[in-house]
Amino acid sequence: MKNRTVAAIDVGTTKVCTIVADFNEAGTPRIVGVGVAPSVGLHKGLVVNINEARESIRESVKKAEQSSNYKLESAYVGVTGRHVASLNNRGVVAITRNDRVVRPDDLKRVLSSAQSVKIPDDRKLLHVIPRSYVVDGQAHVKNPVGMHGFRLDVETHVITAAVTSIQNLIKCIRSIGVDIEDLVLEPLASSEAILTSDEKEVGVILADIGGGTTDIAVFKEGSIWHTSILPVAGYQLTRDVSIGLGLPFDVAEEMKKRYGSVMPVYESKTEDTTAISQDGHGVSYQDLCDIIRARIEEIMKLILLELPNSEYETLVPAGLVLTGGSSNLAGIAALGRDVLQLPVRVGAPSNMEGISDVLCDPAYATSVGLLAWGVNHERSQNWTRWSFGSAIRRMASRLKGLFG
Ligand SMILES: Nc1ncnc2c1ncn2[C@@H]1O[C@H](COP(=O)(O)OP(=O)(O)OP(=O)(O)O)[C@@H](O)[C@H]1O
Ligand SMILES: [Mg+2]
Repeated sequence: MKNRTVAAIDVGTTKVCTIVADFNEAGTPRIVGVGVAPSVGLHKGLVVNINEARESIRESVKKAEQSSNYKLESAYVGVTGRHVASLNNRGVVAITRNDRVVRPDDLKRVLSSAQSVKIPDDRKLLHVIPRSYVVDGQAHVKNPVGMHGFRLDVETHVITAAVTSIQNLIKCIRSIGVDIEDLVLEPLASSEAILTSDEKEVGVILADIGGGTTDIAVFKEGSIWHTSILPVAGYQLTRDVSIGLGLPFDVAEEMKKRYGSVMPVYESKTEDTTAISQDGHGVSYQDLCDIIRARIEEIMKLILLELPNSEYETLVPAGLVLTGGSSNLAGIAALGRDVLQLPVRVGAPSNMEGISDVLCDPAYATSVGLLAWGVNHERSQNWTRWSFGSAIRRMASRLKGLFG
């Protein structure tokens, strides 16, 4: 397999990020182009003005093309927004062949039987992710291919999205001449870039606190267990600061990023009690941080409400991993530990090859995750093609052995 190219477009509420990478047989991506543009025409993760959103996406794609010298034809694209819904479902098929051995074909059949949930016309199926298989009553099977059995069950996590919201996003991207390889739910993408397999195994929550939405994914026993999108994030923080302190929105945004912290003031190192913006607005440092801390605490409590409250400590002993631009706030992990009484860390993409410096920030977890998703997807497709090809070759050589 020679080097192949893959691209991802993360259309966020505050920025659009396009990444181009090539990858080799081993699957290690090397980033060859990045384009970031401020995003306009989006609200809470959704396209609200097609023309404006299209221009933001166009600018980001153009920058990525210029830096990589590669013409983008198709890309993996992230989906978020309150319209996304998820549920856990089951599917079952009988293994009727004489040998009763589970084949890759049976996995396809059982997954499609798990898709037979009634989905209303105004919703589109985004993902049907196998969580685990059961072969003749034996549960927790990760890969049943090759096992013997009469009956194969699958437990799946099914994610759907509102058709209209998806169509608006697709329209923006297609109209600039880029095809969509796959639509990927954003918290799944972020998880791909940030979570370790140990964390997913013991149980962990990933929360991407971006500009317009907080995207949540919960993993248990190595599989996705729950996904959800909350319509509160950094934008609401800035609005609170703006309203609470009587500042114009962009000054509030600047104050939040420059001086914002969720640490109690006595622990922070700022001795000066007034925070001054570039254009001379001054506010009490303590008031600024109190407002931000109150909203972040609220977001963390909302994250916890996604789990059954009595058992969250046993469900997610690996705690909470925070990504998204808002997780840059000083002291956020410590506050999380106070609220959740669990381990909390901030995750940023790391160990990437190529021109990746700008991406080493929690705000780019989704963008890098979409790329990782794309690489894995392309590799598994290749693998299927390859293993099918080699099965034919094996059969041919066996026949040759028999007859000649
Ligand atoms: N140092 C910082 N301190 C506080 N907030 C920050 C900091 N840096 C960035 N942010 C906030 O992070 C948010 C942007 O995060 P991010 O880039 O992850 O969002 P997005 O992907 O554009 O939006 P979304 O995923 O919600 O659609 C903004 O609200 C911004 O104010
Ligand atoms: Mg985002």
